Amino acid sequence: MKIVASVSTMQRRATQWRRSGVRIGFVPTMGYLHAGHMSLVQEARERVGKSGRVVVSIYVNPTQFGPNEDLSRYPRDLKRDLQLCRAAGVDAVFTPDDAQMYPTGKNSTAASAFSTYVVEGCLSQSMEGVTRPTHFRGVTTVVAKLFNLVLPDVAVFGAKDWQQAAIIRRMVADLNFPVQIVVAPTVRETDGLALSSRNKYLTPEQRTQATILHRTLQQARQSVKTQPVPATRLKKSLAKFIATAPLGRLDYLEFFDSDTLQPARQVQRGTHLALAVYFGKTRLIDNARL
Ligand code: PAJ
Repeated sequence: MKIVASVSTMQRRATQWRRSGVRIGFVPTMGYLHAGHMSLVQEARERVGKSGRVVVSIYVNPTQFGPNEDLSRYPRDLKRDLQLCRAAGVDAVFTPDDAQMYPTGKNSTAASAFSTYVVEGCLSQSMEGVTRPTHFRGVTTVVAKLFNLVLPDVAVFGAKDWQQAAIIRRMVADLNFPVQIVVAPTVRETDGLALSSRNKYLTPEQRTQATILHRTLQQARQSVKTQPVPATRLKKSLAKFIATAPLGRLDYLEFFDSDTLQPARQVQRGTHLALAVYFGKTRLIDNARL
């Protein structure tokens, strides 16, 4: 397994692979890998086959964190990440640092500083985009950069971040990136909590109550099993349900169309539900098609 830290080396290697007809499967991550990430790696391998190359990037991208978010304390364990990648048969791990990705600085107004962003203007306005107004601009920008460096035929994203995956799809369609986007299912703990690098922040009590996200999705599914329910009414009853986990504080809960992310007034089978709940400073998200 190759470990590549330089952007020019990554791009050169990817160019060589492409020229010799080798298919490239790509899984972008911020590291602190868990079974959710590794399921994407497996999906990438299945897509490109034995003769293809699977690339995982590990980069905690500063431009997608807001000023009061957890950038400085975001969990990192590169040694363990590399072991997991090696065991999973990854061909190359791309581990650039900030100097490689944003060599001219990222927040400066100096004329020489990084100043080109990719902004998706519609799907990124709701849900995560309300609480984290500059988040998706950072995501689309870094993913566009990573696509230009890794040159993937296929890139795999997790359904866990449903809105992110929808925005990446939009970006790829709008800007004609020659890459196929695959979205793989959310991997969960046995009690239903979606795996997330941020689960590490939870105290034991918070961790126990964090199953409320998954239980809310199940509760919603149950509520619309036989007949449609007005969104406002279901929202109220689910907010009450979430309050039964006293350490949790609801950030948002939205019903919408899985593809267009347009809000749904009536909730029925097939409507998508996404929610975010704070446990202390830790913000957890989950979603499902009902
Ligand atoms: P990160 O949070 O590390 O997630 C990397 C990928 O893993 C994303 O596509 C995410 O949806 C997926 N993932 C996370 N938890 C999952 C789970 N429980 N089951 C299945 N997939 C899961 O998302 C990012 O990094 C960044 O925004 C990134 C796209 C790398 C850009 O910086």
